Amino acid sequence: MATRILFIGLAALVVTIAVADQSPLQDFCVADPSNGVFVNGFACKDPKMVQANDFYFGGLHIAGNVSNPVGSKVTPVTMAQLPGLNTLGISLARIDYAPWGINPPHTHPRASEILTVIEGTLEVGFVTSNPDNRLITKVLSKGDVFVFPVGLIHFQRNVGYSNAIAIAGLSSQNPGIITIANAVFGSNPDIATDILAKAFQVDKSIAGQIQSKF
Ligand SMILES: *[C@@H]1O[C@H](CO)[C@@H](O)[C@H](O)[C@H]1NC(C)=O
Repeated sequence: MATRILFIGLAALVVTIAVADQSPLQDFCVADPSNGVFVNGFACKDPKMVQANDFYFGGLHIAGNVSNPVGSKVTPVTMAQLPGLNTLGISLARIDYAPWGINPPHTHPRASEILTVIEGTLEVGFVTSNPDNRLITKVLSKGDVFVFPVGLIHFQRNVGYSNAIAIAGLSSQNPGIITIANAVFGSNPDIATDILAKAFQVDKSIAGQIQSKF
């Protein structure tokens, strides 16, 4: 009996750990993108060759260019921008929003996200899994913090009349982004228009029209 409970406990622990990136087995493993070996992340740079700059990223004070159709810009600081993040299971992003700009509905397949508002007012939300698809939403002011659980579709909108800024921490060195509109209506090659028409319960011409935007 005790063995069985221990086993269930261990299984639960393994499941819990599997949600986040793997723990590193050394102090650090600075990404070496020039290495041809493909592992879960990048191969490690020789620790003796590692410099302070491998753990550094400068420039998050610079506002992103929000002159685009959605009115927002994400400036990521993941393993791709900061090689020292390789194997560490965390990353960061700055998000700039024009007045009424949105960060459109998207998910991070590998990370939960904790977001804080640095400037302005944001309406944020995420949707729970089927069958409830409950919208959990709130208006955030400067200094407020909100969490988007791993994998769930979420969004932000600037509901103020001036620019807004948020900083987001993510529980993966490489969280990934799937923007719903782009992935569904702008895949390469296209998903067949009649599949989208049936999925979204609209006329084929409407599905085709949306596809033509991406
Ligand atoms: C911002 O992006 C727009 C659209 O791509 C471009 O026309 C504009 O020059 C950019 N502004 C700056 C300051 O880079």
